[in-house]
This record gives sequence, structure tokens and C-alpha cells, in this order.
Amino acid sequence: MIYSGGKIFAGLGIFLVLLTLPFWYGKGRTAPPALSLDTPEIRKLSVKKCVEPTPYMKASHMELLDRWRDAVVRDGRHLYANHEGKNFPMSLSQTCLGCHSNKEKFCDACHSYSGVKPNCWACHVVPKGGGT
Ligand code: HEC
Ligand code: HEC
Ligand code: HEC
Repeated sequence: MIYSGGKIFAGLGIFLVLLTLPFWYGKGRTAPPALSLDTPEIRKLSVKKCVEPTPYMKASHMELLDRWRDAVVRDGRHLYANHEGKNFPMSLSQTCLGCHSNKEKFCDACHSYSGVKPNCWACHVVPKGGGT
């Protein structure tokens, strides 16, 4: 008796979740922010490219940063060769924020839209006035 009662409740719960799914899914959704690529360093690029192709950067920049940190901190390596063999210093502040010196209109804009709060800036410096 109790067992089947539990099943009915579970079934009811699932039914309610399914019924309200469109509501939960749509909750808090607004248009994604417009990301600005208008920075001094990016303006200087003849070909507007990130470290790796954009779809990869969109999906996996956090993993790339994790790998950079491990390479620098554990292995003492400092240069990253991308898929085209182009070298970049593995530095969050110098490299990422060197080009994306408009952190607020780029990194922060997307993170607050996505509800992500990276804690990196407790230790890592945000370069002043455009980055180096
Ligand atoms: C040499 C300059 C340069 C460096 C260094 C650089 N970026 Fe980029 N990044 C760009 C450009 C230019 C684009 C836009 C490419 C495009 O238009 O497809 C971009 C795009 C991106 C995107 C995708 C944005 C979108 O359209 O959704 C992310 C995320 C990103 N960068 C993060 C990073 C991170 C994290 C780092 C450091 C690991 C970094 N970038 C380093 C120039 C750079
Ligand atoms: C197009 C949107 C977008 C842009 C632009 C973007 N991010 Fe992100 N970032 C995300 C999302 C979404 C996540 C969470 C992904 C996840 O948890 O799987 C994230 C996660 C991260 C994380 C991991 C946070 C954690 O606590 O694990 C770091 C670090 C990070 N981003 C750094 C940057 C930096 C630095 C820039 C700017 C140079 C940047 N991101 C630009 C969307 C973006
Ligand atoms: C508690 C302090 C602290 C926090 C928080 C922190 N880091 Fe670091 N990180 C360090 C230190 C210390 C180093 C070593 C610096 C060196 O050897 O040049 C480092 C090195 C790195 C490096 C390689 C060198 C450099 O200067 O960029 C990367 C990449 C990196 N961290 C990424 C991240 C990211 C991404 C986050 C957030 C998700 C983060 N760190 C959060 C302290 C921190």
C-alpha cells in the first residue's frame, strides 16, 4: 500500500515537472548580451581571431584556462602553441585580458547573463586601462 502510494506520488511529481518544464526552461531568459570586441589590441589584428577558433572558445575557454594554469604552475611552461602553431604566453591577465581589455563588456557581460562568477580576480590582476 505505502509502496504503491509512493509510486503515485513520484509519478505525480514527474508529471508536474513535465507540465511546468516550459516555465522553468524559459525562466529568467532574456536576449544574450551584445559582446564588444572593440579594444585597442583587437583593432590591431589584421585577422580577428582568438587563441583558438571561436566555437571552441565559446564552449571550452574554461578548460583551456585550466590547462594553462596547470602548464604554468605544475610544469613551468609559459608558451602555448595553438592549432596553427602560433605562440601565446599562458597568462590570464596578460593574454586574455590583453586582447579582451574590455573585461566588463566582454567576460563579465556574458558571465552575468549565464550566471557564472569566476573567482579568479581575487588573485589575478585586471590590468588597468587597456591591458598590456
Ligand atoms: C589576439 C587577441 C586575443 C586573445 C589573446 C584572446 N582573444 Fe578571445 N577573441 C578574440 C577575438 C578577435 C574574438 C572574436 C573572434 C570572432 O569574431 O569569431 C574572440 C572571441 C572569444 C570568445 C567567444 C566570444 C563569442 O563570440 O561568444 C571567447 C569566450 C574568448 N574570446 C575568450 C578568450 C579567453 C578566455 C582568452 C584567453 C585564454 C582569449 N579570449 C584570448 C581575440 C583574442
Ligand atoms: C559568450 C559567453 C562568454 C564569454 C564572452 C566569456 N565567458 Fe567565461 N564562461 C562562460 C560560461 C557559460 C561559463 C560556465 C561554463 C561552465 O560552467 O561549463 C564560463 C566559465 C568561465 C570560467 C570558469 C569559471 C569557474 O568558476 O569554473 C572562467 C575562468 C572564465 N569563464 C573566464 C573567462 C574570461 C577570462 C573571459 C574573457 C576573456 C570569458 N570567460 C568570457 C561564458 C563566457
Ligand atoms: C587563491 C589565488 C588564486 C585564484 C583564486 C586563482 N588563481 Fe590562477 N594563479 C594563482 C597563482 C599564485 C598562480 C601562479 C602565478 C605564476 O606562477 O606566475 C596562478 C597562475 C594561473 C595561470 C597561469 C599564469 C597566469 O598568470 O595566468 C592561469 C592561466 C590561472 N592561474 C588561471 C586561473 C583562473 C582561470 C582562475 C579562476 C577560475 C584562477 N586562476 C584563480 C593564484 C590564483
